Amino acid sequence: MALVTVTIDGLTVQVPEGTSVLDAARSIGINIPALCHDPDLTPVGACRLCVVEVEGMRNLPASCVTMVTDGMVVRTDTPQIMEARKTILELLIANHPLDCLSCEKLGDCMLADYCYQYGVKESPFIDAAKHDYELEESNPFIVRDLNKCILCGRCIRACAEMTCKDIIDFSYRGFNTKVGPFGDTPLIESDCVYCGNCVSVCPTGALTEKQMYGKGRRWEYNKVTTTCPFCGTGCNFDLMVKDGKIAGVTSNPDSPVNGKQLCIKGRFGWDFVHSDKRLTTPLVKKNGEFVPVSWDEAFDTIAANLGEIKEKYGGKSFAALSSARCTNEENYLVQKFTRTVMGTNNVDHCART
Ligand code: FES
Repeated sequence: MALVTVTIDGLTVQVPEGTSVLDAARSIGINIPALCHDPDLTPVGACRLCVVEVEGMRNLPASCVTMVTDGMVVRTDTPQIMEARKTILELLIANHPLDCLSCEKLGDCMLADYCYQYGVKESPFIDAAKHDYELEESNPFIVRDLNKCILCGRCIRACAEMTCKDIIDFSYRGFNTKVGPFGDTPLIESDCVYCGNCVSVCPTGALTEKQMYGKGRRWEYNKVTTTCPFCGTGCNFDLMVKDGKIAGVTSNPDSPVNGKQLCIKGRFGWDFVHSDKRLTTPLVKKNGEFVPVSWDEAFDTIAANLGEIKEKYGGKSFAALSSARCTNEENYLVQKFTRTVMGTNNVDHCART
């Protein structure tokens, strides 16, 4: 691919043709603020926070949707740019409830972070109308507080481009514009599959995982990166651990397998971990009833019964069906045991077809 040379804040860099100014700047460590931009989604230039100065252009273009051209000279931090970004933030919070003190996402809100960075404490547009949408929590997984939505459209693009569902979009016009399913219904009445990918890209407190709602601020959790136990894809995510318990799951954008994407099971299906219905000891059937036994007794029972079956009916009377929920190592052991101990190739796997 052809390279183009661009100068950003006095630093010259070569990037492939078609690179945005935002990405070119970030590639040399110049961080331009961006709210509607997400590297995994199609850029749309909606929030305008990423404006920069480009020599030869009269206005301030949004760097996320402006592609570099050879010889382009860009500045990202002039007083005019700073002033423009500050005004954009003031406009973005003009209709915002500004209830940061009690907001679920404080500490994980890009809007709050940028307001802090640009010294925006309040909006000068004091007479601007505020929304009074009811908190939507009728579904089991996602809390929607549209009063905090800045209409960046990230959730819409995540639904369309990551999950390929297209469940939500902008509806109404002007001040009344809001994001939601067709017909402005609650999510529970839509075809939403609750993957939560919309939550993972939301830059404000508009979308929150219900399981973590009210359980603590984001900085109170320990993030533990792990691999999803539900299928063999091997998605990574962060367990949000507080007081020794898993409170929820958030995407880990650095996951090499899945990036921010997860399915409903990976993101919201972790509550089995602390379920009091989990078996904590092996059970062996005695006189028609399952009885808790030690691991030694359980293994002895298995060995004796399988040995008897093999002796009486031969190894081919045995078959093993393994699971995608097991690790590769566990699946390896299942086939190894089946072939070498039971003496048969009758081994299969639920995810084979
Ligand atoms: Fe570029 Fe929103 S990040 S316009």
